[in-house]
Amino acid sequence: MAKIKEIARKRRSIRKYKTDKFGVNAILECIDVAKEAPSGSNAQPWHFVIVEDDGLKKELREVCEKGEKKFYSHVKGKLAEWLESKGLNWQKPFLTDVPYIIAVFSHKKSPYSRESVWIAVGYLILAIEEKGLASLTYTPPNRSEVAKLLNCPEDYRLEVLIPVGYAGEDKVKEPRKGLDEIVSVNRW
Ligand SMILES: Cc1cc2nc3c(=O)[nH]c(=O)nc-3n(C[C@H](O)[C@H](O)[C@H](O)COP(=O)(O)O)c2cc1C
Repeated sequence: MAKIKEIARKRRSIRKYKTDKFGVNAILECIDVAKEAPSGSNAQPWHFVIVEDDGLKKELREVCEKGEKKFYSHVKGKLAEWLESKGLNWQKPFLTDVPYIIAVFSHKKSPYSRESVWIAVGYLILAIEEKGLASLTYTPPNRSEVAKLLNCPEDYRLEVLIPVGYAGEDKVKEPRKGLDEIVSVNRW
């Protein structure tokens, strides 16, 4: 318990990375943890594409930034304020800086497919943290275009891109609500 809590507490979303490379085995070991996740009727409705080719990362970045430009031109209200407070904009340099991007796909017709895949994503990001690597659950606004670029079959959809590398920023952990705010006993 202590170990898992420490890893969960330590993990944060990293948006700046060093370009230092490492072997793909580290990524495979993390996916090996993710695949132990539970899934609706044990359908294991996930597929992981590891992008390591620099040319393809560049293409990915171009497609994502095209979607982001459109998104940022429309975003308003509280979300716009939050994005600005975090210094976030349409530019996504981490997509070309990192050695690896894990694209995670869900099988559209499996039961509870998205829920299952996101549990696996939770396992994955903790396994990445445990290795001393950093990650981000990046959900580009135009996921179907990104999926197409990665040759995603018709019966799958892209859920998330996870850049993985050595952190290039030292971030303060974003605050979490206290247990007393999120837990009720017996009834809400
Ligand atoms: C489903 C999901 C989608 C997210 N999408 C993005 C995203 O597109 N871009 C981004 O920079 N961060 C994204 N995040 C990261 C969140 O902003 C981040 O987890 C949150 O602010 C808490 O920060 P922490 O992860 O550092 O604790 C996403 C997180 C989740 C769980």
